Amino acid sequence: MNPSFTDRFTYKPYFGTSPVIERVKKYVKIAAVEPCTALIVGETGSGKGVLAHWIHEHSPRKESVFVDINCSGLKGELLKTELFGHAMGAFTGAVKDRPGLIEEADGGTLFLDEIGDMDLDVQCQLLKSIEEKTFRRVGENNLRTSDFRLICATNRDLPDAVKRGDFRSDLYYRINTLFISLPPLRERKEDIAGFLEHMLKNMGYRYLPINQAVVDKLARYPWPGNIRELRNAVERALMFAQGEPLTPNTSPAPKTYLYPPGRRGRKYGVWTRSNANTSGGRSGTSTAISRRRARRWEFRCRRCTGS
Ligand SMILES: Nc1ncnc2c1ncn2[C@@H]1O[C@H](COP(=O)(O)OP(=O)(O)O)[C@@H](O)[C@H]1O
Ligand SMILES: [Mg+2]
Repeated sequence: MNPSFTDRFTYKPYFGTSPVIERVKKYVKIAAVEPCTALIVGETGSGKGVLAHWIHEHSPRKESVFVDINCSGLKGELLKTELFGHAMGAFTGAVKDRPGLIEEADGGTLFLDEIGDMDLDVQCQLLKSIEEKTFRRVGENNLRTSDFRLICATNRDLPDAVKRGDFRSDLYYRINTLFISLPPLRERKEDIAGFLEHMLKNMGYRYLPINQAVVDKLARYPWPGNIRELRNAVERALMFAQGEPLTPNTSPAPKTYLYPPGRRGRKYGVWTRSNANTSGGRSGTSTAISRRRARRWEFRCRRCTGS
């Protein structure tokens, strides 16, 4: 297997040809040539990070750096120092001056992943930096400049977050210059065969024939983890197939759902078809789901998997 496949930036992405993605491609091409701020939204695993990198690679800034940071991992002051940098002595442990990512991205692209999770006070400073292309390192008065192109991504419903007061409306309007909405994989099942072919090629199985029954089985699964989940499922199936062509029996569609698609952000136990069949979804790890919801979900899954 090609080890570089595990790195999302080292191989060419596949976009697909379904009508829904064709509409998206139009905006992606504009984002590549225009220097405007782009906002990519989509469910987890739908390829927001991959797309942001592709846009950079096809933009006039491609010779310069692509700096990315996941805003959900860092909170408050930590995120501030990561973005804006800090001066020596700004806080305990700041033993020397350190440039932030905004400074590093000078001349290139700054990709703020999961911007919907950013703290409100960081949002306020970020807005100023985007509008004026200036920033101050933490603990420093000196105003610095950075010419960065901004791409943001989130799996959150930002207008809703604005309504709830979790996201600043002014920042939302500022980053929403070019809006790209990536559809979930279950809404573009026509692309699954193409993805499978692309993944086999990238994993070093270019000549492995693709069985239509496998594609059909994959198309019946709702893929809540989207392309990321499909990629992992294909990797797993290839391990079990041991170099033989994939069949519906080694087919990568998993039988376990971590959460029903479309119900992100809520806590559910792991639910499998087998435990729902025997106990209405209330055994073992599935206790977090109500009996009624499990029955409803079981019905939907049966429809998807054709069982
Ligand atoms: N267009 C694509 N072509 C091929 N693989 C993709 C594509 N989009 C996503 N992937 C796969 O899914 C994984 C997750 O993508 P990522 O961009 O991190 O998703 P997100 O940021 O939306 O959660 C990537 O590492 C890659 O393996
Ligand atoms: Mg991401």
